[in-house]
Amino acid sequence: MLERPIILGIESSCDESAAAVVAAGERVLSNEVFSQVKLHREHGGVVPEIAGRSHLDKLPPLVQRALDQAGVAAEELDAIAVTHRPGLVGCLLVGLSVAKTVALVLGKPLLGIDHLQAHVDAAFLERDEAIELPLLALVASGGHTSLYLCRERGQAERVSRSRDDAAGEALDKAAAMLGLGYPGGPALERSAREGDRRAHSFKRGIIREEGSFDVSFSGMKTALLYKLRGPGLQRPMPELSDAERADYAASFQEAVVDTLVDRVRVARDHYGAKAVAIGGGVARNGRLREKLREALEGTQLLFPDLAYCSDNAAMIAGLGAIRFREGQRDTLDLEAAPRSRPC
Ligand code: KG4
Ligand code: ZN
Repeated sequence: MLERPIILGIESSCDESAAAVVAAGERVLSNEVFSQVKLHREHGGVVPEIAGRSHLDKLPPLVQRALDQAGVAAEELDAIAVTHRPGLVGCLLVGLSVAKTVALVLGKPLLGIDHLQAHVDAAFLERDEAIELPLLALVASGGHTSLYLCRERGQAERVSRSRDDAAGEALDKAAAMLGLGYPGGPALERSAREGDRRAHSFKRGIIREEGSFDVSFSGMKTALLYKLRGPGLQRPMPELSDAERADYAASFQEAVVDTLVDRVRVARDHYGAKAVAIGGGVARNGRLREKLREALEGTQLLFPDLAYCSDNAAMIAGLGAIRFREGQRDTLDLEAAPRSRPC
């Protein structure tokens, strides 16, 4: 007998179409993802129109596959959880339409889920040990870089943010400048493995204000541009050898990672957090994980499986279970919202 609730999760906020089934907010019975990376590569970034159309094609069969893989009949579901904020509105609307249709046809409750709160909640998936609270969670993705303080599961107070670019956005832009391809974060990490982290110096993006744990990455990005093109941007982009690229990649990644690790460590001490979790695509980064391990010795570290860091629907279904238990029930009027809201 599977523990309840059994929730179907649906995610389509950006360039991943995903469906998953999770039991009791913890056991991932299936986690189906279709990444649109190949569709957007030639454009060097996510094209909302292409993303929306692809979600429309891929989501319905993914939902079926998620149920089949989980060995769960649609009638056994307790609710349908769907990302309704934040994200590209056209993309959110596709996921919402699919979720509403499934909920209506099956006569099951519909639950709107906040994508960023779900990234925090992913730390609780497939976890056998008890999680110590309060938990500090770093969510670093292509669109957001924030710290959340979580005093109990399902609750997440944002305690810091990036004042400009997200960490993933900075890594993506740096990779594009270095000609490392798309998506930039993983390409930059691969190149950085061959480079010297001390070859170039970048000022860390720490905002020095009393009581603030905010970060900034746009200065670092501009600094890289000036290093490549000279003062006044008088030179064209240089032709770089693989070794030169690797040195820039390693130095830039180090600056981004150091900034994040420093803010996590200081905020952990400030809030007396007993555990630290990471989520979002940047949480896949090996150097970030390594440096957090070094800096946070003695703190419980919750580094989710890579599959639960980048966009996925297991995290939506997992948080869906918590919202279901809290009594949340949404109507078929549930709207897509481009922005997140703290809970
Ligand atoms: O959470 P996510 O999959 O989608 C958003 O909601 O944005 O995050 C995507 C971001 C991209 O900026 C991507 O370059 C970055 O995560 N990323 C990485 C790595 N894998 C993905 N950044 C650094 N190292 C990685 N291994
Ligand atoms: Zn995300």
